[in-house]
Amino acid sequence: MPSRVLVTQQILQEGLDLLRAVGDVQIEVNPTPGAIWTPAELLAHVPGHEYLLCLLTDQIDAAILGAGAGGSPALRLVANMAVGYNNIDVEAARRLGVLVTNTPGVLTEATADLTFALLLAVARRIPEADRFTRTGRFTGWQPLLLLGAEVASKTLGIVGMGRIGRAVARRGLGFSMSILYTNPQRLPPASARTLNAKFASLEEVLRQADFLSLHLPYTPQTHHLLNAETLALMKPGAYLINTARGSIVDEAALVAALKAGRLAGAALDVFEDEPRIDPALLEMEQVVLAPHIGSATREARARMATTAAGNILAHLRGQPPPNLVS
Ligand code: DGY
Repeated sequence: MPSRVLVTQQILQEGLDLLRAVGDVQIEVNPTPGAIWTPAELLAHVPGHEYLLCLLTDQIDAAILGAGAGGSPALRLVANMAVGYNNIDVEAARRLGVLVTNTPGVLTEATADLTFALLLAVARRIPEADRFTRTGRFTGWQPLLLLGAEVASKTLGIVGMGRIGRAVARRGLGFSMSILYTNPQRLPPASARTLNAKFASLEEVLRQADFLSLHLPYTPQTHHLLNAETLALMKPGAYLINTARGSIVDEAALVAALKAGRLAGAALDVFEDEPRIDPALLEMEQVVLAPHIGSATREARARMATTAAGNILAHLRGQPPPNLVS
């Protein structure tokens, strides 16, 4: 009997090639480019597959994890093609004996690049300037036209100093920024020295950062970490950049802080209820929006595909998958 792998969306060929290189594997890929299966469609496709290569847009709940159980074969491993895995009910997976893997490390630089691109874009009003220019409003250089905020020498506050947080700090250093961070664990002294990064409480980071960037996982504990109360602690005129997960920020409270002018702007790659975006955000010139493209470089997405496939491959070969999260 071949092992059967279900891939929930079209991914870069490199990942599929890796799986196809092993004998006796049958791969089913969602045939429609760009289509995301509804939960019911996903549930209908899973039975009969031992391996599921899924994306963060797939909600992998107990029903999906248990689909096929009792029949043959049951699901054995879910390989999420993302570093975040809040779309998977990891507890249920543990209970049902289904392994879960993710793709850490391979999208760090791409996500840090996008974070910095957004930071610069919101500080220097680049999307607004682009719209202004395209619509024929550029009538000549003016001393007061589209003034933004300087980035150099400002304080970059980083919430979550894992791989991506540290990669963002390195970029901040290149802009002579002061780096202030908060994280459950402090950086080892040598690493803190290299990054010139100072540890502080969340409250202190919120109060001091000119640019606040979020790089922590979404969990029940980080749900709405930035809410009306914590946003009110932010330095007046600061900017928020979120390339982590939308629900870390209470979007309604963010809209209120932006409307009140407490924050100068926000740059968001992630949203509370993707792909829905609060219509108020769409209206605001001081907000830069992106459609969750932090890892969207060809190189990073190829590595994500091969890393996810590699986790499946290891299991097929009887080896421990390298990126087990449960
Ligand atoms: C992730 O991997 O968690 C990102 O959000 C998507 O690349």
